[in-house]
Amino acid sequence: MFEVEDLNVHFGGIHALKGISLRVDEGEIVTLVGANGAGKTTTLRTASGLKKPTSGRITLDGKDITKLSAQDRVKRGLCQVPEGRRVFPAMSVSENLDLGAYLRRDRAGVAADLTNVFERFPVLGERRRQLAGTLSGGEQQMLAMGRALMSRPKVLLLDEPSMGLAPLLVQEIFSIIADINAEGTTVLLVEQNANMALQVAHRAYVMETGTMVMSGTAAELSQTDDIKKAYLGG
Ligand SMILES: Nc1ncnc2c1ncn2[C@@H]1O[C@H](COP(=O)(O)OP(=O)(O)O)[C@@H](O)[C@H]1O
Ligand SMILES: [Mg+2]
Repeated sequence: MFEVEDLNVHFGGIHALKGISLRVDEGEIVTLVGANGAGKTTTLRTASGLKKPTSGRITLDGKDITKLSAQDRVKRGLCQVPEGRRVFPAMSVSENLDLGAYLRRDRAGVAADLTNVFERFPVLGERRRQLAGTLSGGEQQMLAMGRALMSRPKVLLLDEPSMGLAPLLVQEIFSIIADINAEGTTVLLVEQNANMALQVAHRAYVMETGTMVMSGTAAELSQTDDIKKAYLGG
């Protein structure tokens, strides 16, 4: 469904991604875990077309999208929820959601998806006229996810959705991710919360300083001593 092959990314003299490869099959949740600075965000930003790679190949549905603009990738069904949510604080909840659909022309479909988003996130419906900047962190994460869903993605890229949230909300966000996936959206999930990520994911990749160091089923990796020590608190 979605594949990255031998991707190299530089920021000036910094070699941030050193020939990484990963694959997400249709219907999967794949998680990418690793310490701060490992290159997880850079991987997602390059996948979604916000950062140009030095070399490598990105494919979606078997088609090479490496040279496509970020917009064209969204049109083809690849959508990213950025690290730190990045909702538009001075716009209302509804306006933020409308922006998620701005590349679409199927008005009936957009209206149906808006209803679905309000069903999935009732709090967004209750606060649809409220400015996004007045929402709590958890609500802003829901808005960022709702906005992405308004593009009707086939593959959803999530960057640290649980960051900064209280434990109860973290549970809720992960359970929503599982629901979204169960209803047919393929998910690539970047997380520092490896514990939760490995519970919800089918497969996982582990990154260290720009390199993929391990991959396997989430169940396998949760039982690996190195992973337990480095990422699961023993
Ligand atoms: N805009 C940027 N300019 C320069 N260096 C960057 C930029 N973004 C990321 N980097 C560097 O790339 C590496 C990977 O960062 P990042 O992808 O944000 O890691 P992670 O998301 O895993 O914490 C780090 O060394 C970081 O300093
Ligand atoms: Mg990051």
